[in-house]
Amino acid sequence: MVAGNGVFYPIIGFASCVAFIYMSFGDLWVNYHEEPELSFVQRNGTHFMVDGRIFYINGWNSYWFLDHAVDEYRRPRIRAMLQAGAKMGLTVCRTWAFNDGAYNALQISPGRYDERVFKALDHVIAEAGQHGIRLLLSLVNNLQAYGGKTQYVQWAWEEGVGLSSSNDSFFYDPSIRHYFKNHVKTLLTRKNTLTGIQYRDDPTIFGWELINEPRCMTDRSGNSLQDWIEEMSTFVKSIDKKHLLTVGLEGFYGPKSPKRLTVNPPGDWAANLGSDFIRNSNPLNH
Ligand SMILES: *[C@@H]1O[C@H](CO)[C@@H](O)[C@H](O)[C@H]1NC(C)=O
Ligand SMILES: *[C@@H]1O[C@H](CO)[C@@H](O)[C@H](O)[C@H]1NC(C)=O
Repeated sequence: MVAGNGVFYPIIGFASCVAFIYMSFGDLWVNYHEEPELSFVQRNGTHFMVDGRIFYINGWNSYWFLDHAVDEYRRPRIRAMLQAGAKMGLTVCRTWAFNDGAYNALQISPGRYDERVFKALDHVIAEAGQHGIRLLLSLVNNLQAYGGKTQYVQWAWEEGVGLSSSNDSFFYDPSIRHYFKNHVKTLLTRKNTLTGIQYRDDPTIFGWELINEPRCMTDRSGNSLQDWIEEMSTFVKSIDKKHLLTVGLEGFYGPKSPKRLTVNPPGDWAANLGSDFIRNSNPLNH
């Protein structure tokens, strides 16, 4: 026993040291430069295509990847989720590429980013590539969770921009449009610290989603949201022509699609959100 202890403790010491290093720097031991070769997903008519063949999507939503990736002890849940998804034959996961001003924010204030959190997003993308899962990355939230429109409006207030306190100032105000474009550019040109690939060149990314579940109820004609979508989609495409782009709609029909209104949920509310699935998706044509 006594003799054994002398050997045992150093081994425990060594093992826990290795475990610590692995938990701290586990990414270093996965060679993300040798991730499975994925091709860009493209579109032909109503079909998604990969390498000239039709690509059918089995998708899911795990909005929390970035949030969990920031914390060492929650990070392994991402790998576990991707493994489970891949095992079930799932191919695309939708997740957040934003956390504006909230706890563990990616964007701390307009144009200021937390590199530690950006590295967490690098990890999410690299890890997805490892499992052959593509990501649909959403760029901002219409809702308040993880910042959203409310946070952008707050930032503009704090910077002394004169604007209406409505959350829809997010769509109207030129300064806020500028903040958002800056976020888009920062993300799309980000070079992943693990793979060395810029996000805009990374086929692991299935596509971009402008905004999660946009509503602009202060303009029920839908013209304001439409205008914002046209400006932002043009901007995304000016930086990145390789990826698909979608809006992030809930899928309701608006006043410009009168024949389809009966397909909305019962009542008028769904047609009065300032959104219209057909009209909003059409001008993109990407
Ligand atoms: C796109 O689809 C059309 C109709 O199915 C087909 O004729 C054409 O070859 C396809 N183009 C590509 C690039 O796959
Ligand atoms: C903006 O949205 C938040 C979250 O939904 C809400 O609490 C707040 O009252 C809204 N602001 C205005 C001015 O309506």
